[in-house]
This record gives sequence, C-alpha cells and structure tokens, in this order.
Amino acid sequence: MPSRDGHLALVGFLQAQNCTTIPAAWRHPDARLDFMTADYYQHIARTLERGFFDIGFFDDRLAMPDMYGGDHAHTVERGIRCVKLDPTIVLTTMGLATEHIGLGATYSATYHEPFHVARVFATLDHITSGRAAWNVVTSVNDNEARNMGLSEGLAHDDRYDRADEFMEVVHGHWDTWDEDALELDRNSGVFAHGDRVHRLDHQGEHYLSRGPFTVPRTPQGHPVVIQAGQSARGTRFAARWGELVFVSGNDLVRAAETYRRLRAEAETVGRDPDSLRVATLVFPIVGQTRSEAEDRRAAFDALTEDIDELSLLSEGLNFDFSTKNLDDTFSAEELESLSGIQAIRDRVVERTGGEPTVRDFMEVTGRANLSHALVGDPGEIADHFEEWFNTPACDGFVIGSAYQPGALESFVDLVVPELQRRGLVRAHYTGTTLRDHLGLAVPNSGDWRRPA
Ligand SMILES: Cc1cc2nc3c(=O)[nH]c(=O)nc-3n(C[C@H](O)[C@H](O)[C@H](O)COP(=O)(O)O)c2cc1C
Repeated sequence: MPSRDGHLALVGFLQAQNCTTIPAAWRHPDARLDFMTADYYQHIARTLERGFFDIGFFDDRLAMPDMYGGDHAHTVERGIRCVKLDPTIVLTTMGLATEHIGLGATYSATYHEPFHVARVFATLDHITSGRAAWNVVTSVNDNEARNMGLSEGLAHDDRYDRADEFMEVVHGHWDTWDEDALELDRNSGVFAHGDRVHRLDHQGEHYLSRGPFTVPRTPQGHPVVIQAGQSARGTRFAARWGELVFVSGNDLVRAAETYRRLRAEAETVGRDPDSLRVATLVFPIVGQTRSEAEDRRAAFDALTEDIDELSLLSEGLNFDFSTKNLDDTFSAEELESLSGIQAIRDRVVERTGGEPTVRDFMEVTGRANLSHALVGDPGEIADHFEEWFNTPACDGFVIGSAYQPGALESFVDLVVPELQRRGLVRAHYTGTTLRDHLGLAVPNSGDWRRPA
C-alpha cells in the first residue's frame, strides 16, 4: 500500500480558455465568459482552495483544433477550444490570490527548449513559495508542429525518446545550484558560492545546453513533475519521471491494474513507488439529489453538438474525420496509421472488437459529450471516490468540469464536505508546499538519475 495519509489527492482540471475540455461548456447559462481576465482564474483558484484541493492544473495544446476539414472556421464559430492563453502567466495571477493551492501547467517537451521550461517552472516555484508543478507532454498533433517550426509531428516513440533527454536537461539545470549556494552577505560581499553553482554541459543526441542555470534551487527542490502518458511507451515515461501521474478510464478493475503497473514500473527504474501519486480523471455532475444531478446532466447534454465531438476526435487522433461519413468504417491499416493519442484508438477498437465506424469513435470516446460523467448526489459521488481510493485504483482524482466555475463550485460545496466527513479530504492544509499536500518528499540533487 502507498504511504498515503488517508487523504485522497484532489486536482482541479483547468483550461486557460473559453471552455473546459468540453466545447459546449461556454454555452452553459452559468458559465462565466470573462475567461480572459485575472479575476476569472483567481476566483477558480480560491474555489479550489476553499475545497482543500491539492492543486489546480491547466492542460494545453499549441494549436486550436482545425484538423477537421483542414479549416478553423467551425472551430472559432462554435468555440471549440479555440482560445488558449499561456497557462503559466495565468497561474501566476492565481498564485497571487491564494496561499496554499498547488499550481500546475502543461508545457510541451516536444516544442520548447529545456532551459526555457526549467526556468519558467523554477521561477513559478520561487514566486509561489513552493507550489509549482509542470505537466510534461509530448505533443501529439501535426497542427502543433506547424505552429512550432515543423511540417508534421514526430513519430510516437521518438517523441518520448526525445522527451527523456529533455527531462535529463531540465532536471540537470534544476540541480545546478546547490541548496546552500546562496550566501546573500552584504558585509563580505559574497552573493553566492562559486563552487556551489555548476555548469550542466549537456551534449546529447537532441539537446545541447551548457548552463549554469540562472534560477537558484527552488523551495520544493524542484517543481513537482506531472505526466499523463497512457500508451506502453508513455506509461514507461510516466513511471520514470512522473511524480503526479494522471490516468483516465472508468473501469475499476483496469484502473487497479494500471495503478499496480505504474508503481511496479517505477520500482523497475529504481524509484520508490511512494514517490509517485496517481490521480484518475472524472467529470462529476452533482446535485442535492440524484434526480437534480440527472437534470443537470440532461441540460448539459442539450448543449452539445456533433461537430464538437468530430473536431476533438480529429485533433486527438491527428486524423481528419471529415473525410468519412458517420457510418464509414476504419480499416486495420487506417487504424494503425492514427498517430495521435493511441489510448483513445485502442479503447474504441477494444469496445467494438473490429473495424469501428466514425459513430463508434464518437460514442465510445465521448470526448465532447460527457459520456464519462459521474452523475449522482454527494453520497454517491463520495462512494465512488472511496471505493476507487481503497481498492486501490488511484491516490486521488482529477476533477474535470462540465463548465466553469459552476461545476467546480458545486463539487466544493456539495461533495467535499461529504468527503471530509469520511476523512478522505483534509479539514485544513497542514503544510505550505505542493509536495507537503501530496505527501511527496523533497528530492535530493541527482535523485532523477535513473536508467532509461
Ligand atoms: C488528465 C489528463 C490531462 C492531459 N492533459 C494533456 C494536455 O494538457 N496536453 C496534451 O497534449 N496531452 C494531455 N493529456 C494526454 C497525455 O499527456 C498524453 O499526451 C497522451 O495520452 C498521448 O500519449 P500516449 O500516446 O502515451 O497515450 C492528458 C491526459 C490526461 C489523462
């Protein structure tokens, strides 16, 4: 059993944009539309802190979804995840409005320089007194490539091979200032000890980075690393680098197996499995009663449109779904050639057992229509959390929202008190850093040096 303190981890799944991961979110009558103001995000941060969440984290992509039909007109007209603000700047404003909540953002290891990413998140960790986290992703999508200097994305496993080296450079830079390097002594005139700040001198297959790094060691040793790879290669990467690992899927038996496998893989690369927390994605729709929750769900479903789903599938699978009719099938070769998020493809193939149609993709993945929502009264939602946590199938939950900030507010007002009553959510924060909240130890320099 993991050395969990009895509390499950709560992660707010946030988007620095016009909707949540669900495009219809912005059409909800209770959604706030001032998503380009600091006040909007600061309100969300305070809401999460009021609910004793461990962290709020922003997903990100470096393109708007326009694979469908090769055109962005439908994307902007229907508001399909077309706005994406830089999440680290938004996080900074949230940090200034709160004291405890952890602050995470996604930055791509495929399209940024490791020195830059190391600096952004180390800075955030200082400015927020140890509350920063970086969600490292390997970007899946050709549109991102086209925005970032390439004509198409890298092959799936190559992205991860590159990302391994990226992580070595980032961690290497984070380690180049010894903990006691800073002296700050005006009398002697010594600012920092020259022999306690080191050059990295990294020369690898993909990256050159010399250093020394320009940000001293951070309050958490280094920011918490989040990862969510789900393919076999992605899971290996997550087990090597992830401290907070996100998974998705709503089958308890399978989730328990993924949980066990992630921890076993972490041990294989020489990590203590307790140096990793696993949180699974859910979209709770809660009401005072079950029927109120079901009404809320139905009202939300009425807002969704087929184009939302088709557009997100095209983006996630890196394939233009407009080239097929809804009842056309995918051949084995076409399935093999899908280069996006393989876990999505694999789930559809498994459920349909052969050559799925476009409609099958839409129904099984339900990326835009909340087909994976957890609908119930506070007790029912808490029962689900308790069962998954105790199995154990996860250490906590990534709380997705049908719309913001209302869905998060309902969760905090209705579900969190029930989870607190059961001792599953803290009654107050006992520490100040994100590592404190998650029960993750401060890493020593070089802890990350493990076999690939
Ligand atoms: C909760 C959660 C959040 C994610 N956030 C992002 C994200 O912000 N950007 C992204 O490109 N991928 C995101 N992903 C997808 C994964 O990080 C990963 O890129 C994807 O699963 C493809 O890798 P794979 O082929 O190893 O599965 C997320 C996944 C989960 C479960």
